[in-house]
Amino acid sequence: MRLVLVGPPGAGKGTQAGFIAERFSIPQISTGDIFRANVSGGTKLGKLAKSFMDAGDLVPDAVTIAMVRDRLDEPDTAAGFLLDGFPRNVAQAYELDSVLGDLGASLDVVLELEVDNDEVVRRLSGRRMCRKCGHIWHIEYDPTQSGGRCDLCGGELFQRDDDQADTVRHRLDVYAEQTAPLIQFYDGRGQLVVVDALGPVEDVTERAIAALTKAIS
Ligand code: AP5
Ligand code: MG
Repeated sequence: MRLVLVGPPGAGKGTQAGFIAERFSIPQISTGDIFRANVSGGTKLGKLAKSFMDAGDLVPDAVTIAMVRDRLDEPDTAAGFLLDGFPRNVAQAYELDSVLGDLGASLDVVLELEVDNDEVVRRLSGRRMCRKCGHIWHIEYDPTQSGGRCDLCGGELFQRDDDQADTVRHRLDVYAEQTAPLIQFYDGRGQLVVVDALGPVEDVTERAIAALTKAIS
């Protein structure tokens, strides 16, 4: 299964990506997570990406595409993959075609997680992530038992810099202008599957897995 997840910031892409990747035994490739790991590690890529991420803007295509190309070259992607956060504009979608074309492969399905802007703001303002294992929590919708620590690994929880209200608003604008056109792009190719991403996490997972299973059968 070669799958792309698309949806606005806070739609639940990262949350659902883990469950879907596990269900279909494919690696989860989240470009935002790779950038954040590089920022924490102080790498050259991280230093370059940080100012764009903090502002809620897209990291330049050339940088992002080179990073994804390298990742898709790794052997664990041979049987498929789940891309979360890439492509993020039509130029990146064409680049993905080209990378897959070089590998003699193509995309099976693009899953859109649909939520409204008010819910996005609620989800992002309460999101907390684990610094150690990356697990995604929410202070109200999915709180930890242990307060400021991750229930899974004991790691420290933090709030992403780009989850400040002003930056969230800008990320929503960037999504509407640059990423939302992908919906029509993939729909026109007959590759789009839309899932209602409102409601409990487990219900969304169930709907997503059912829709994906149907799409590839
Ligand atoms: P990225 O990390 O991809 O951010 P994003 O697209 O803004 O998406 P988020 O991670 O904020 O939201 P999500 O949909 O994953 O939601 P989550 O599951 O966490 O990108 C960050 C930055 O990196 C970009 O701004 C850009 O600078 C750069 N970048 C990345 N990719 C790039 C690319 N291709 N090109 C250029 N630049 C790129 O859930 C959110 C919260 O909601 C959590 O607290 C969760 O617990 C909660 N939640 C989830 N589901 C539910 C539910 N059903 N009910 C209640 N709460 C829920
Ligand atoms: Mg995410």
